[in-house]
Amino acid sequence: MAIHIALAKGRIHKVVMKYLKESGYDFPTYTEESRKLIFEDASGSLKVTLVKSPDVAVYVERGAADIGIVGEDVLIEDNAGAKVYEVLDIGIGRCNMAVAGVKGKTVDMSKRITVGTKYPRIARRYFEQNHHSVDIIKLNGSVELAPLVGLSDVIVDIVETGNTLRANGLEVLEYFMDFSARMICNPVSFKLKYQEISTLIEVIKQNEIK
Ligand code: PRP
Ligand code: MG
Repeated sequence: MAIHIALAKGRIHKVVMKYLKESGYDFPTYTEESRKLIFEDASGSLKVTLVKSPDVAVYVERGAADIGIVGEDVLIEDNAGAKVYEVLDIGIGRCNMAVAGVKGKTVDMSKRITVGTKYPRIARRYFEQNHHSVDIIKLNGSVELAPLVGLSDVIVDIVETGNTLRANGLEVLEYFMDFSARMICNPVSFKLKYQEISTLIEVIKQNEIK
């Protein structure tokens, strides 16, 4: 039985596809530039689909994919872990969640501040735990813009290399969580395709993904 893997589209899918190729899985129609969203390997054992990261757990929960690979940040923000098994820390996509603001500009945290973020639940929890009063503005991307154009005082976002912050004249005020990419599995698939899924997990475990 073929395993269907939903990969978070973007950095994660590029690294995982490269890795699968190096591990002997050949996807004849796949290229990084392709606009196709579904690929099958030549041996017929894997089907890969490219999915927006917040949707990966939705596909897996509903059994439309057996396995998903997605950032832990997204799983935590969407509380997606409840209905799927988290089977492996893939070790790639390591990043930190941070509060960041305009470089050199002091933010008075004793006052109510506005926060632009793609992660409203993670941000709210963090500020509540630290007893800061905040207005959270949910954004869908390019959040670094928000403090530059006066939409928010700070942002809460993931930092991987720090290049995006630097390129936009922002700096980290505080790191408060770290994440990596996780493999999740549909509980029914885990039983029905136990052998195939265990083999795939072993392949990924054996050769550390870089
Ligand atoms: C993510 C994240 C940061 C950036 C961090 O954005 O939201 O902006 O990557 O990576 P870096 O520290 O290596 O620069 P993404 O590229 O996913 O775009 P989006 O925020 O517009 O969705
Ligand atoms: Mg971004």
